[in-house]
Amino acid sequence: MSQFKFGNRPLLRSVVKGVGSALPKRLVTNSELEKQVDTSDDWIVQRTGIRQRYLAGEGETTSTLATQAAIAALADAGMDVQDIDLVIVATSTPDYTFPATATIVQAALGITRGVAFDVQAVCSGFVFGVATADKYLTSGSHKCALVIGAETFSRILDWKDRTTCVLFGDGAGAIVLEAQEVTGTANERGVMTSHLRSDGRHRAKLFVDGGPSTTQTVGHLRMEGREVFRHAVGMVTDVIMDAFAATGTSVAELDWFVPHQANRRIIDASADKLSIAPEKVVTTVQLHGNTSAASIPLALSVAKADGRIKQGDLVMIEAMGGGFTWGSALIRW
Ligand code: UT7
Repeated sequence: MSQFKFGNRPLLRSVVKGVGSALPKRLVTNSELEKQVDTSDDWIVQRTGIRQRYLAGEGETTSTLATQAAIAALADAGMDVQDIDLVIVATSTPDYTFPATATIVQAALGITRGVAFDVQAVCSGFVFGVATADKYLTSGSHKCALVIGAETFSRILDWKDRTTCVLFGDGAGAIVLEAQEVTGTANERGVMTSHLRSDGRHRAKLFVDGGPSTTQTVGHLRMEGREVFRHAVGMVTDVIMDAFAATGTSVAELDWFVPHQANRRIIDASADKLSIAPEKVVTTVQLHGNTSAASIPLALSVAKADGRIKQGDLVMIEAMGGGFTWGSALIRW
């Protein structure tokens, strides 16, 4: 096993082989929410860019959406479930307190080898998942990973709180990553670098007010939106600059900027601060709302399917979320 052979180890990169996504059946527009809380389509669109979101119904859970997204990603990759030896699910809305949703997905897919576990970094979860899978794959210990971001935030929202319930949606997205040998140039495919950060002092600005060890309840999402907004742009631009510095690449070489989809204004302000041209920014918040860990792979899926993201493109993903956590990854697609 290459796991124990450290001398003359080949240089490996985690190459994206496929991407897929899944959405719940029920589409909910802003005007539908007007009937439920004191809000308006105008307010939601102007302050967030969101026009609609999908909400999970009966029988739809984080693991069912994750499994559908994984099947779509494997089909896109032209690969079989038995090729997978690592399943990482990024979620803050697991089916159960335990076992990990990743093991439920693993079983649903019929994978009986390798390892499956969840990562919990709220909206940054997918970036944390990609970074974690990349460490496994480039160490040589594992060969092929499914990294899935999947959420059913509708189930932890306070549907009477207009300041949060209009913002989020449910869904899942997945990518297949495979370890491939490279010589190490910037033109070779794969995850080139990842940069993760967290600072737990910001917990009270975005959290869920329940949990097994404190209240023995699931709890509801609570957010000081303005405070989160105030920190978001600076934090994500820092880790994006770290990614460019670590790879010797520059913003001019970037083909696609695929940020976490929380708010159109945060996305535009981040792109503006980094001088990223608007036509290079993939924005799907209008379609899905904020789907937390699912938002980036959902956006990647949309941009791959409509022909924007092509093999060889340089793609920057980034996110910021509860904790706070934040991170970036630069990928040669
Ligand atoms: O994904 C994890 C990270 N999360 C985020 O990135 C979210 C970051 N924050 C945001 O996106 C924005 O702060 C929000 C969209 C949450 C809010 O936008 P804002 O421009 O910061 O608005 P605000 O919180 O300052 O509220 C402005 C006004 C308030 O009324 P007053 O106090 O000025 O009279 C709110 O009560 O808008 C009111 N308001 C609403 N009005 C209609 C808040 N929610 C609503 C609503 N409909 N749904």
